[in-house]
Amino acid sequence: MRTETPPTVRLEDYRPSDHLIDRVELDIRLDPHDTRVTATLALRPNPVGRPGAPLVLDGDDLTLLALELDGQALGPDAYRADPSSLTLSTPPQRPFTLRIETRLDPTANTRLMGLYRSNSVYCTQCEADGFRRITYFLDRPDVLSIYTTRIEAEREAAPILLGNGNPSEAGAVPGTGRHYAVWHDPMPKPAYLFALVGGRLDRVAKDFTTMEGRRVEIAVYVEPGKGDRAAYALDAVERSMAWDETAFGRAYDLDVFNVVAVSDFNMGAMENKGLNIFNDKYVLASPETATDADYAAIEAIIAHEYFHNWSGNRVTCRDWFQLCLKEGLTVFRDQEFSSDMRSRAVHRIAEVRNLRARQFPEDAGPLAHPVRPKQYAEINNFYTATVYEKGAEIVRMLRTLIGDAAFRAGMDRYFAENDGKAATVEDFLEAFEAASGRDLSRFAEWYERPGTPRVAASGSYDASAQTYRLAFRQTRPGAGADAPPLVVPIRLGLVGSDGPLDAATSERVEAGVFVLEAAEDAVTFENVAAEPVPSLFRAFSAPVRVASSLDDAARLTLLRHDPDSFNRWEAAQRVALGLMARQVRGESTETADAFVAALGAFLDAEALHDPAFAAQILALPSEGDLADEIGTETDPDAIFSARQTLRRRLGTGLRERLMSLRETLAEPAGTPFSPDAAAAGRRALRNAALDLIAAADAQAGTALAEAQIEAATNMTDRLAGLATLALLPGEAREAALTAFAERYADEPLVLDKWFAIQAMIPEDGTVARIRRLQSHPAFAMTNPNRVRSLIGSFSLANPTQFNRPDGAGYALVAETVLALDGTNPQVAARLMTAFGPWRRLEPGRRAVAEAALRRIVATPGLSRDVSDIATRSVA
Ligand code: PHE
Ligand code: ZN
Repeated sequence: MRTETPPTVRLEDYRPSDHLIDRVELDIRLDPHDTRVTATLALRPNPVGRPGAPLVLDGDDLTLLALELDGQALGPDAYRADPSSLTLSTPPQRPFTLRIETRLDPTANTRLMGLYRSNSVYCTQCEADGFRRITYFLDRPDVLSIYTTRIEAEREAAPILLGNGNPSEAGAVPGTGRHYAVWHDPMPKPAYLFALVGGRLDRVAKDFTTMEGRRVEIAVYVEPGKGDRAAYALDAVERSMAWDETAFGRAYDLDVFNVVAVSDFNMGAMENKGLNIFNDKYVLASPETATDADYAAIEAIIAHEYFHNWSGNRVTCRDWFQLCLKEGLTVFRDQEFSSDMRSRAVHRIAEVRNLRARQFPEDAGPLAHPVRPKQYAEINNFYTATVYEKGAEIVRMLRTLIGDAAFRAGMDRYFAENDGKAATVEDFLEAFEAASGRDLSRFAEWYERPGTPRVAASGSYDASAQTYRLAFRQTRPGAGADAPPLVVPIRLGLVGSDGPLDAATSERVEAGVFVLEAAEDAVTFENVAAEPVPSLFRAFSAPVRVASSLDDAARLTLLRHDPDSFNRWEAAQRVALGLMARQVRGESTETADAFVAALGAFLDAEALHDPAFAAQILALPSEGDLADEIGTETDPDAIFSARQTLRRRLGTGLRERLMSLRETLAEPAGTPFSPDAAAAGRRALRNAALDLIAAADAQAGTALAEAQIEAATNMTDRLAGLATLALLPGEAREAALTAFAERYADEPLVLDKWFAIQAMIPEDGTVARIRRLQSHPAFAMTNPNRVRSLIGSFSLANPTQFNRPDGAGYALVAETVLALDGTNPQVAARLMTAFGPWRRLEPGRRAVAEAALRRIVATPGLSRDVSDIATRSVA
């Protein structure tokens, strides 16, 4: 459907539905082009709705075949139906039943919303508003119903039939090649959690007994022949179930928990009740095809979707403005899970890298919005880093403020009070107020306005009094002049030249945390024996930018002695950022030698104790991080070359150490592959070393990378070798790329890595290379993973080429957006968000980017999805 000016939906306009639907019976007869859906809805007026209001059911692209009210066919005067709504202007003012028959064409559904086919498997995606593409309904999250679903299909085409809840009945349809299955979901749910699957799939399964003694069968379904790649996902489900019991006291509530992997999926995965549907990228793993990063992502996303069973499904959202209520909270929960499964410090670094790479720029650009937005034109454009990642940071700050015990009590209370309901952010905060006895009304401001806060800190030491005073000042860029100060938990401590100054204390610091509540405040430490270096925002205790005047020497003291691992890493990152920024500005970078020496000492002392952490220390801030640091008038070429210079310096200065680490950390031949954090950490450090060696010495880098690819026994090492070669122009690179493509010709998910590596080559020829790859037989515009690998990686991870001064990079992405908009507007809109930071570019590129954006805005017939992003981007 094409819309001109999208109507804006506003939080302040929320009102309860005029009608409720208590029970839904669905009879779905699957057919590739002529699927029939009969929905029998038990409706009644909502006691808190408007009496006598018309009944307006949502639809999207629907064809109505028949309509009955309480068993009587309705005449043409009794209702109005079009593809996007079904209206009864005078519905009965008592409970009544509607029977609605619609016809669908799942094969023609390229938007991958509603009922569609992926590699001929029938599947559904209903969040946020896809259920209305299946039948007319009150498609809003505060209408909760009990569903019974009968699914029927040809047995040959779809031997597996899955629905929400528990299986209750199955059998043959006599005299046909068809069969059916009936599923009943005892928990009330909104329509966005509905799902079904029908197809030919392999199954791996295991039993789990919950802490309540319920026996659950966990199953993972994948493409035929790929069952051996589902073992890790299955194991991750089991670990998630056990963890949610111990960490949050939450047990699973059905007899079965099913996960299905499909290859065409707009997002990562979906938490449909009892039937999670996944992008196969986040299920399938084998040492030969998946990297350590893939294993970690599978573990995290399996956990995320499973945790939604409580934070999202048992307690859902009243309206889509409350999206962070389920998403921010569930990201927080999956981050805690991953931290417990792996190294907490290393995971925190990964979380913050991700927040800075995606959320900070979003919050500083034209698409900035509050964690709880106040309005939207297209809700699918609000599944953002701000709602998810900043939303998770708010939950984490809440825990820091009230402490672990009150936090857990608050979570228990939130689940108990809101179970079976559609809740709001207010309901969430109320549970923690009750549990902690603390007033959180000012804390709630974190949800209300966009922009990353800035906290400036400055310290002064009084040697005679042995005191150290730290003054803080917070500002809120992008939040509006009248924005009140935020409540900012600052986890902090003092560090001296030989180690932490544990004797130093302050009345205002409780359990290591100072809470900044005013625009300006200060804290004084007593018993400070020597001039200290402040370690601020330990473990990244608040999602802010910190401005402090520490020099490199002070930061290197933190790298050496801070007991907080996150801040040790942060110190190294700040030094590197400072060096690169000074290089961009043409200033002196003479402290680089001290930095190299400090890293050398660090590697000698610690690399082998914690290789995963050492790999993080060696990984320099990205080009995006540097652009974000510089902030305005950025020149991607200057940023790239400053980063190259520093990589080269580290590669030269640390060469012997890096070489010997690579030797020491090499797995002895025949070691079986393990995806665990320790083994992954060793691989990460070896590969970080390879990256730096190659940056300084192309010849040595080429030889090492080729040898590594040759000897690789897993995808992590093979791909790291290829990524290193990809940065070194020449025949070796092209030969390795060709060999990789041949080896994995039948592995679409592996070829995605191959597409991405080439899309990220920071060279002039890349746009032309991508245009050639667009006609590679493995590329398909209809598959979101392929598009994201080739075009998404280019726009997000190749700043010099995407931002080419001649506009060829923007043109490539703009063309793709427009080509995709007619078939899959959601994915097209997401691709467009790469233009977000255009205003911070230097004037030449800024003008070229703006022109590209304005051409998109002016294109007739844009989808609501793309037009919403495009118009906000230039506003
Ligand atoms: N709710 C899903 C999640 O975060 C994301 C999603 C949104 C998937 C919309 C599909 C469509 O877990
Ligand atoms: Zn989620």
